[in-house]
Amino acid sequence: MKRQIQFTLNGKPVTADVAPHETLLDLLRDTFQLTGAKETCGLGLCGVCTVLVSGKPVSGCLHFASSIDGEEIVTIEGLETEEGLHPIQEAFYEQKAFQCGYCTPGMILMAKKLLEENPNPTEDEIKDYMVGNICRCASYAQIFAAIQEAASLLKQEKVKL
Ligand code: FES
Ligand code: FES
Repeated sequence: MKRQIQFTLNGKPVTADVAPHETLLDLLRDTFQLTGAKETCGLGLCGVCTVLVSGKPVSGCLHFASSIDGEEIVTIEGLETEEGLHPIQEAFYEQKAFQCGYCTPGMILMAKKLLEENPNPTEDEIKDYMVGNICRCASYAQIFAAIQEAASLLKQEKVKL
């Protein structure tokens, strides 16, 4: 039986009727047409489905939609503002930190959390933090460079993450 939940999605209050077995990833993609987060492994192993639940990165493929009642959800679609791309998105673009782009939304959201916790990460710290996000195109060098560039942009622009 479905149950109604209320939550904030990319800054807007929303409601949805969710089935007990429905995942957050399916809810975002099928009900809200937010297709940035994707499914690959479906096992919590690749990070492609990463979204932020009240600031914490979670694997949308494993997270039950029914558990997000009252939470704040941020997806990749929520980062861009009227002023333009988020500095982390800008840095990924500038560094060409993608090939197919499949992993990019999850990478950027995980990088956002990393830079909130550690505004000046070393390359080793970036590698450690991003270990759960897999890029099958192996664009790791560019992704790590983009995260370092994002850290520098955020310092210059003094943007609140
Ligand atoms: S699809 Fe969710 S972690 Fe791989
Ligand atoms: S850019 Fe293709 S999987 Fe990362």
